[in-house]
Amino acid sequence: MKENRGKIVKASHTGFCFGVRRAVGSAEKFLKKHKRAYSLGPIIHNPSVVNDLSSRGLEVISDIKRAKGSCLIIRSHGISPRLKENAHELSIDMLDATCPFVKRSHTIVTRLKKENYKIIIIGEKNHPEVKALLEVAGSGALVATRETDLKRLSFKNNKIAVVAQTTLSRDRFFRIVESILQLNCLEYRIFDTICNDVVQRQTEAKRLAKRVDLVFVVGGKISANTRHLAQICREQGAKTYHIETAKELRPSWIKPQSLVGVVSGASTPADIVEKVVTKLKKII
Ligand code: F3S
Repeated sequence: MKENRGKIVKASHTGFCFGVRRAVGSAEKFLKKHKRAYSLGPIIHNPSVVNDLSSRGLEVISDIKRAKGSCLIIRSHGISPRLKENAHELSIDMLDATCPFVKRSHTIVTRLKKENYKIIIIGEKNHPEVKALLEVAGSGALVATRETDLKRLSFKNNKIAVVAQTTLSRDRFFRIVESILQLNCLEYRIFDTICNDVVQRQTEAKRLAKRVDLVFVVGGKISANTRHLAQICREQGAKTYHIETAKELRPSWIKPQSLVGVVSGASTPADIVEKVVTKLKKII
């Protein structure tokens, strides 16, 4: 049963996660002193933050050669060993802002590769973290985004090890792991490398979406963890809007006396969430 009408319920877990706060903080500090740096792809998946850093001198590039002889800030998603090597060859100084939890996945995968496991990374093929991790895992590894991707597995190897993209939906991870366990291998090693911050946001979003009439999920449209939050809210049956800023919020979406939830992704600044809440207060 839905509760008190005309109310806004904001998730308790909002603002930057540890890794994003660390990456943005390092970039700001560096730019204050050196005025110019590059990032290969957006440093985090939030356009407002990327624009702000760009105004301070951080240029987003898609080709590492553009940073030749300059400084590259490695984003929170990490970088592949091949690109690191390229950076050295191009005399690029690197400021490593890779999230320690992403680095932990690299360490786990490096060890598993040495131990000859067939490595399965559960995640999104085009996500920068997964692309880098796949390179660490080597040519025999596989990315599984959904259960059907497992059909491409060769059964010559009887040792399977599984890791996850740090920002994956936990429900999806468990679903795919369940299918992997049906593969009749001799040995399985499952590493739940989903970040604890992400799990907390997902748990809260699920609980909140069951209570309210509609949910606003605030965060970058290309942010994987924000998109997963929106998906989780929809799966609970709540009308869900994924918005990047308060500007996108249309008063016509909200019926009078609605109970409205607000959740946000790990790369969404707290002030953007607050602006959404302020606008909602004026509407409800
Ligand atoms: Fe790191 Fe988790 Fe944030 S992996 S970048 S602390 S969502």
